[in-house]
Amino acid sequence: MNRIVYKQMLTPTTALLQVEAPWIARKAQPGQFIIVRLDDEGERIPLSLSGWDRAAGTLRLIVQGVGFTTKQMIALEVGDSIRDVVGPLGQRTHLPPDGTLVVIGGGYGAGAVLPTAREARAAGRRTVGIIGARTRKLVLMEEEMRQVCNEVFVTTDDGSQGIKGLVTDALSQVIAADRIGAVLAVGPVPMMRAVSELTRPHQIPTFVSLNAIMVDGTGMCGGCRVTVGGQSKFACFDGPDFDGHTVNYDELIQRQKMYKPQEAMAQDHECRLRTDVPMSPV
Ligand SMILES: Cc1cc2nc3c(=O)[nH]c(=O)nc-3n(C[C@H](O)[C@H](O)[C@H](O)COP(=O)(O)OP(=O)(O)OC[C@H]3O[C@@H](n4cnc5c(N)ncnc54)[C@H](O)[C@@H]3O)c2cc1C
Ligand code: FES
Repeated sequence: MNRIVYKQMLTPTTALLQVEAPWIARKAQPGQFIIVRLDDEGERIPLSLSGWDRAAGTLRLIVQGVGFTTKQMIALEVGDSIRDVVGPLGQRTHLPPDGTLVVIGGGYGAGAVLPTAREARAAGRRTVGIIGARTRKLVLMEEEMRQVCNEVFVTTDDGSQGIKGLVTDALSQVIAADRIGAVLAVGPVPMMRAVSELTRPHQIPTFVSLNAIMVDGTGMCGGCRVTVGGQSKFACFDGPDFDGHTVNYDELIQRQKMYKPQEAMAQDHECRLRTDVPMSPV
């Protein structure tokens, strides 16, 4: 059992949680993730590490309540426990070492890129952060981003904060002004795809963290299969970071929709993914 020791609602549907998991905190590296199961009957869901405290033995998670399990998770309170936490999973982020590092986060991605930015800044590398959100009230982790980046841009779709537009509008400005050595983008697939398309003609190495559907998280079940550079990869084991210029995004989007009927039923509280709805083949 892993106890929740801190909780802060960042928006009405997004929680920052600190969870006891000393063995994972001891080994965690930037870019890695965990898989949690809230109770004996719960499904397993992957969550990025947005930070850790090795001395206190805790992990920091940013959880967006988008469906059955994530909504259940953000309803937990300090003192409640999570049944299983498995990790750290996946490969750590590896980036080319020279030039400015740009980290881009949409949604929970604003938390997920922080460990990489923190490490780069500590190594003396110029680091620029870009956070994208629909509106000002949904901008996540801005203060934390400012602590680990030399410069931070916020973009909002409605212009209520920062640049009116998308993260790619801010990235265009940075590309024009800076010598970028690498870009790391974590967030919704359309965002990661747009970032990759923008950097491609500039030949800027670009890495994206693929949010494929995961079950075991160890490369055994095949659920998270993605195609990168024409080759099949397992996002949980080979990734989650991949070269954004060679990802087959159409296939990823298609596979993310595989369990929509079950997800809709789970949302309706009619069942918990143990249904008589036929499961799509992996
Ligand atoms: C490596 C990785 C890191 C992630 N990090 C975070 C994070 O830090 N914070 C956060 O809020 N979310 C994160 N996610 C997404 C999170 O795992 C899903 O939002 C969650 O599984 C949805 O479950 P649900 O029951 O709440 O919603 P559902 O209604 O079941 O699903 C909503 C959508 O989430 C996706 N999803 C569903 N089940 C899974 C699954 N088992 N694995 C992956 N995606 C799934 C699907 O696209 C689905 O359409 C991450 C995903 C991956 C792969
Ligand atoms: S989650 Fe099963 S192979 Fe990746």
